[in-house]
Amino acid sequence: MKKHLLLFIAFIGFFTILLSGCGTTGEEDSSENTDATSSEDKEVLEMATSADFAPFESRNEAGDIEGFDIDLANYIADELGYELKITDMKFDGLIGALQNERVDMVLSGMSTTEERKQNVDFSKEYHHSGEMFVTLKDSDITSVDDIEGKTVGVQLGTIQQTGAEKLQEDMDFEIKAVDNGPTLIQELISNRIDVAYMDKSVAKGYIEEQDLAGFDDPTSSSPGMGIAFPKGSELVDDVNEVLAQAEENGKLQELKDKWLSEE
Ligand code: ARG
Repeated sequence: MKKHLLLFIAFIGFFTILLSGCGTTGEEDSSENTDATSSEDKEVLEMATSADFAPFESRNEAGDIEGFDIDLANYIADELGYELKITDMKFDGLIGALQNERVDMVLSGMSTTEERKQNVDFSKEYHHSGEMFVTLKDSDITSVDDIEGKTVGVQLGTIQQTGAEKLQEDMDFEIKAVDNGPTLIQELISNRIDVAYMDKSVAKGYIEEQDLAGFDDPTSSSPGMGIAFPKGSELVDDVNEVLAQAEENGKLQELKDKWLSEE
């Protein structure tokens, strides 16, 4: 009898664990519909982003995802007659989500590198930014030469990670790759890294907000940002047309004025 009771408890325990695993979909922590005028009969356009990259995509105080990429995605969806659905995930998982066709497109400040082009298709570029090294205000690191012997933080899966690895071929320093943007700045402020290597448009926001310092990366020649699609996606041409039109009618400039400070 006692044995049966034990078995029963083990059985219940097993199912509790199984059930608690349901309802979460891995790294994707939310889906939301940002299109206020959505109607039932519109086809859904599934977009993914990594909402840790202000001013391109981040969560506001209400927890909603906002930014340049989000406005641009909404504009594109509107123009093409889709209802936009946004999924937030780690930057490192975005290419995989496109490859598995779990989403239709990615707007995430993603640079159109040759390496990525082997796995996804890109729209034409909609912005070009550059890189910066961000430090604490009183830091003795004021140029790339000073990173020798230091710890450089980057976001996992970004071109800044690849860029830092390339720099490492000629210099001796450590790289610490973290999952998300705000964590990187947290690491810097709490002295767990000496310098953060990141996108310039994003860095400038942190430098101002958190009273940090920084300098441009003289080595950087990174490509601009594009919208990414699964390879062979028919959306590429349509979206390129909308982008060309947005360039012509001033919409793109309007969004740049709204979200990005001058370079
Ligand atoms: N432009 C860089 C890259 O493509 C960083 C993009 C990071 N984007 C983000 N949403 N965290 O690798």
